[in-house]
Parts: sequence; C-alpha cells; structure tokens
Amino acid sequence: MTAAIIDGKAFAAKVRGEVAAHVARLKEEHGIQPGLAVVLVGEDPASQVYVSSKGKSTVEVGMKSVEHKLPADTSEADLLALIARLNADSSIHGILVQLPLPGHLNSELVINSIDPAKDVDGFHISNVGLLGTGQKSMVPCTPLGCLMMLRDHHGSLAGLNAVVVGRSNIVGKPMAQLLLGDSCTVTIAHSRTKDLAAVCRGADILVAAVGRPEMITGDMVKPGATVIDVGINRIERDGKGKLVGDVHFDSAKEVAGAITPVPGGVGPMTIACLLANTLTACCRANGLPEPKGLTA
Ligand code: GUN
Repeated sequence: MTAAIIDGKAFAAKVRGEVAAHVARLKEEHGIQPGLAVVLVGEDPASQVYVSSKGKSTVEVGMKSVEHKLPADTSEADLLALIARLNADSSIHGILVQLPLPGHLNSELVINSIDPAKDVDGFHISNVGLLGTGQKSMVPCTPLGCLMMLRDHHGSLAGLNAVVVGRSNIVGKPMAQLLLGDSCTVTIAHSRTKDLAAVCRGADILVAAVGRPEMITGDMVKPGATVIDVGINRIERDGKGKLVGDVHFDSAKEVAGAITPVPGGVGPMTIACLLANTLTACCRANGLPEPKGLTA
C-alpha cells in the first residue's frame, strides 16, 4: 500500500483563504484590521527570508504588516522598549520576535515581555502554562498546523495512540499537549528513548520533530499510521542541495496510511497558522467571536 499524501500547501492555501474572508468581514462589519508586527534583530539570512515571507502573507490576507529590523548589536533595553511600544499599540494584535536572537540578548526575558494576548507564537510562559492546563491560550503555530491537518484527515483523534518524537518547547511539548487535548494517548519520545523503533511502531499518529534528516524509516512505522514530518533539513545528495524531513519518505510512504511530504507538508501550515493566530488575537482583543476551525 502507498500512503495518501497530505497536501500541506493546498491545506495552507485553504486556511489563508478562510483567514482572508474573516478579515474582510471584520473590516466591513466592525472597521477593524488585524495587525501583525514582526521584529528581526540582526542579519541571519534564513531569518530574513522567513520574515519577508511572513510580511507578504500578512498583507495578502488583508492584515496590516509592520516589520522592525534592528541591528545585530541592539541592546536588550532598546528591544524591550520597542516591545513595550508594540504592547501598547492598539492597531497591533500580534507580535512575533524572530528567533534565534543574537547571543547577547536573553530570549526568555524578551519573549516574556510580550503581552501574552499578542504572543502569536505561543511562546510566552503564560501561554505555555495555559496550554498545559487545557485553558484558552495562544498556541504555537507549527503544532497548531499539524493538529489542523490531523483533524482534517481523521475527524476525531480520540483514543488514538500518538507518538511525538522530539521534546522541544517550540514543537514537541506543545504538540503533545494538543494531542492530549484531543484525547489521544500520548508518548513523547526523543534521542535517548530506548528502542525508539518499537515505540514508534505503536503509533497510530507519528509526529517527527527531532531535527535529524530521515531518521524515521519505514520499519519504524505502524502499517496504516498517519505520519506528520515537521523536519526541514538541508542535505547534500549526489552533489546537489536537497530538503528532506525527519522521516525517510520513500520507505515510510510504503507503510503509512497517510504522510506529509517535505517540502509541501507542515512548512506552509506554519505561516498560515501565524495568520490564524493573529486573527484570533484580534477577535479576542475586540470581544468578538473567534474564527471557527482556526484555533485549538
Ligand atoms: N524561528 C524559526 N521558527 C520560528 C518561529 O516559529 N517563531 C519565531 N519567533 N522564530 C522562529
């Protein structure tokens, strides 16, 4: 059997369409335009690409996009002062500080200075705690995108065995919380897990977020399982650069029931969910109903 391919690019386009329609209604009925501010410190080339792609998508769905590009030697005090201004600005509903920050800046301190209601990354310690206790929060974009694809594919996730490989604060841990919230039986596995292959073979839903190219091979996948590949790894093959996931796609697709490709799987969903989170934050800030199907 060859797995169904979960088309993240098409799904992300659908989510962006729903966000755009909601944004248009907000403008028409309430005269409100959601606004997203992205802060980039330094000149990391990958971050510059992410930030400009975020800005473009924000404008495309009809939102206000503000970019603050600061020099690499920006002081912590200056960065905190900018965040304080954005916190107080009622035309800004979402604030994202692009990570990683230069080494002299304390990322935790900076992230925790963002108003939790505007923390569209869901990285603020208050949002982490709210998610962990099953309360309304801002949810990190990548795991939210994975959850949306899983709900779309399965309908209910209740009772399914989910294994998340990877324990990062950005993906692994919030992914596990979201799956638990949808009543999965959840295991978090990682590089030190004993007999990782056997643990993975117990998964109806297998989420790979370890950051190791093609680590999850077909023999680690339960027949018919749904495999979500969060990895984006640039490797050299046959003298050419190539993007691969954390899953060995060719072997896994022969065993899985459904699988996300890299590129074109989880990746496009992350920015779509950033826009969804900005819309959600705007609705909450204005006491309006939240968009359906775009939150956890
Ligand atoms: N750098 C890489 N991914 C992300 C992300 O999702 N959010 C932020 N703020 N920075 C990142």
